[in-house]
Amino acid sequence: MRETSVRALFLQIVLRLMLAASAAGTNTAERCAACHPKEVAGYEKSAMAASISTTASQPDGAFEHAYSKTRFSIHATPGGQIQSFQRPGESAAYPVAYVIGSGAHAFGFLVQIGDHLFQSPLSYYTGLAQWDVAPGYEESKRPDFSRPVTPECLLCHADKPQPIPETVNRYRTPAVLGAGISCDRCHGPVEAHAKNPVPGSIVNPAKLQDTAARDSVCEQCHLAGEVRVPNPGKAIGDFQAGQRLEDIYSVYVAAQPPGGTVKVISHAEQLSLSACARASRGKLWCGTCHDPHQRPAEPAAYFRERCLGCHAATLEPSHAAAGRDCVSCHMPRLAARDGGHTAFTDHRIARQPQAQGLKSEQDGLKAWREPESRLRDRNLAIALVTVGLQDAHSAEVIRGYKMLNQVVKAYPDDPASLTSLGTVLLRARQPAEALLLFDKVIRLKPDYAPYRMNAALALMELSRKGEAERRLDQALELDPLLEPAVQLRNRLHKERGDSLP
Ligand code: HEC
Ligand code: HEC
Ligand code: HEC
Ligand code: HEC
Ligand code: HEC
Ligand code: HEC
Ligand code: HEC
Repeated sequence: MRETSVRALFLQIVLRLMLAASAAGTNTAERCAACHPKEVAGYEKSAMAASISTTASQPDGAFEHAYSKTRFSIHATPGGQIQSFQRPGESAAYPVAYVIGSGAHAFGFLVQIGDHLFQSPLSYYTGLAQWDVAPGYEESKRPDFSRPVTPECLLCHADKPQPIPETVNRYRTPAVLGAGISCDRCHGPVEAHAKNPVPGSIVNPAKLQDTAARDSVCEQCHLAGEVRVPNPGKAIGDFQAGQRLEDIYSVYVAAQPPGGTVKVISHAEQLSLSACARASRGKLWCGTCHDPHQRPAEPAAYFRERCLGCHAATLEPSHAAAGRDCVSCHMPRLAARDGGHTAFTDHRIARQPQAQGLKSEQDGLKAWREPESRLRDRNLAIALVTVGLQDAHSAEVIRGYKMLNQVVKAYPDDPASLTSLGTVLLRARQPAEALLLFDKVIRLKPDYAPYRMNAALALMELSRKGEAERRLDQALELDPLLEPAVQLRNRLHKERGDSLP
């Protein structure tokens, strides 16, 4: 990928100009301002409206990542910010294409190579005013600009990503329409309301009778769980406000770890553990305390009023005395376990949060809400295998494997189930059986490069190198920047080079 970085720089500048030209007028908010000036102006001040941008304005910097002996540097140029790294035998420089985050805690960065988006291994931490590696790269031996940016990342941070179907990280130009998260992400499709602007012709999350659909509006981005499994034929991006997440995908969550830390993007999980949520029968939701169109001018007084909305009648008068800041005791800020130098507000609303390591009653992996019954086993089995392999948790993998043997009978043409089963078989050193499944998936979805790569891996394991290389070439023809395929090809070339006289 190294040699492409100069070309990428040039492409980047051209793409940036095109993006600037097309951004005007694509944001939904402009269609609402005439009639809802207060909501539009208020929402524009929120962090969500500023969740992505194309101009990196963080200060220049340089630092050494000791773990990988890599020297990173960041500097501004007239064409935009350039991020680069150097370590023995390797170096690269990339222009920043997108800045992720409003900077409330941190900024993340994306680079663009051709029509591919990749994650930068760098973050700028606002509180410390400091550059460091991004969360997840702390113990990387060769941090690089090579992790693909899937649509999920942009669906949570941008208005309308434009992924090219059947690819991992390729996007149309521009990669996102509009900019920050727009009105319709919480209010659903706007066309009916535009034709007939009356109450009821657009989703008002607070009025959704189905509390699961109401909660889903915020959960689409504020509930990452351990894994999200799309229903057959669906993609995460198909979700629209007004639906339940489970109409499109299931989220699987793990037991909360004990101790005084929280996980990033887990506000929904934490809140569900609170006595307030459990005892108020669906009355308490994100919207009880947060109005996306209005930042509280006096946060302590504002949140106190929210608490007293339910607790005024039963609290001791002295406990609820005027001026007491409920949040400072019951929702303190805690360091994020996986968020890199950031602290988040503890949404578990504990009696004595400092003293208790709240532990959920859950064990292992569990659906946040169950999908319809015909999908339960399928979605859970895929979740178990995905998370089990990721965390090297063999009990989960075995449980998923057993379920999948049944699932593929019910869903014989489902690429996700077949691929999960094949992946387990390959790990269990049954490459011939895995190959049968991987080849079937290729017949179902011939254009998706990672499926070819799976078959190549099984063939390698079977010592059928020639055929493996053919599959690898096919994968790289479909996607020349598919990182695992690039690595495997380089390895094969090196092996062949070494054996030359
Ligand atoms: C031509 C004027 C007009 C435009 C443009 C318009 N609205 Fe409305 N909207 C209204 C009126 C009128 C109501 C009803 C207000 C009321 O009852 O207080 C309404 C109500 C709403 C409600 C509450 C619905 C309910 O059932 O509680 C939402 C949400 C809403 N609009 C969002 C939007 C969004 C988002 C846009 C931009 C895509 C938009 N509106 C564009 C006039 C408009
Ligand atoms: C399309 C994704 C998305 C949806 C939908 C969404 N959020 Fe967010 N939200 C984010 C992201 C991303 C951030 C972090 C923004 C940043 O700082 O860059 C955020 C930040 C916030 C914040 C902290 C910053 C602030 O502006 O106060 C609150 C509170 C919040 N969201 C509440 C909600 C609530 C309530 C809902 C549902 C009604 C919701 N969000 C729906 C993505 C989303
Ligand atoms: C499931 C939705 C989701 C996904 C996927 C996701 N994020 Fe986030 N991200 C959030 C939310 C919500 C926040 C706000 C903090 C929180 O809730 O923990 C956030 C916070 C951040 C922040 C800090 C923002 C600030 O203003 O302080 C950065 C940077 C960030 N994410 C980068 C990324 C990148 C880069 C990716 C993909 C490679 C990604 N995120 C994937 C939902 C998501
Ligand atoms: C992050 C989610 C989110 C986004 C983004 C969002 N809204 Fe809302 N909106 C809500 C929620 C939640 C409510 C219900 C508030 C309540 O009544 O508690 C609401 C209510 C409304 C209402 C009805 C207000 C009333 O008094 O009943 C209007 C109008 C509205 N939104 C317009 C907009 C417009 C215009 C935008 C874009 C500029 C927008 N919203 C963006 C979540 C969102
Ligand atoms: C929608 C209603 C509602 C809101 C809003 C609400 N609570 Fe609660 N809360 C409850 C209910 C119901 C209980 C369980 C019965 C009880 O202890 O009163 C509870 C319990 C608690 C408990 C006891 C926790 C335990 O583990 O025993 C604390 C502390 C608490 N709430 C604090 C707060 C604070 C602080 C706020 C505001 C930030 C708040 N609540 C907002 C409904 C709510
Ligand atoms: C009982 C009140 C309450 C409820 C309900 C609530 N929050 Fe919060 N939230 C807070 C308070 C208080 C803060 C800290 C605000 C501040 O520092 O100004 C906060 C902060 C946040 C932030 C900013 C990052 C952080 O952790 O400090 C996000 C994001 C957020 N909430 C998301 C959510 C989501 C999503 C939901 C629903 C699952 C939700 N909140 C429900 C009270 C609440
Ligand atoms: C100085 C810290 C502090 C402040 C400020 C504070 N609390 Fe508490 N609160 C506590 C402690 C400690 C307990 C546990 C008392 C116990 O276990 O006997 C508690 C208990 C509670 C309970 C459970 C009461 C019960 O009888 O079961 C509720 C509800 C509650 N607080 C709500 C609030 C609300 C609402 C506010 C703001 C008006 C608030 N608290 C302000 C420290 C505080």
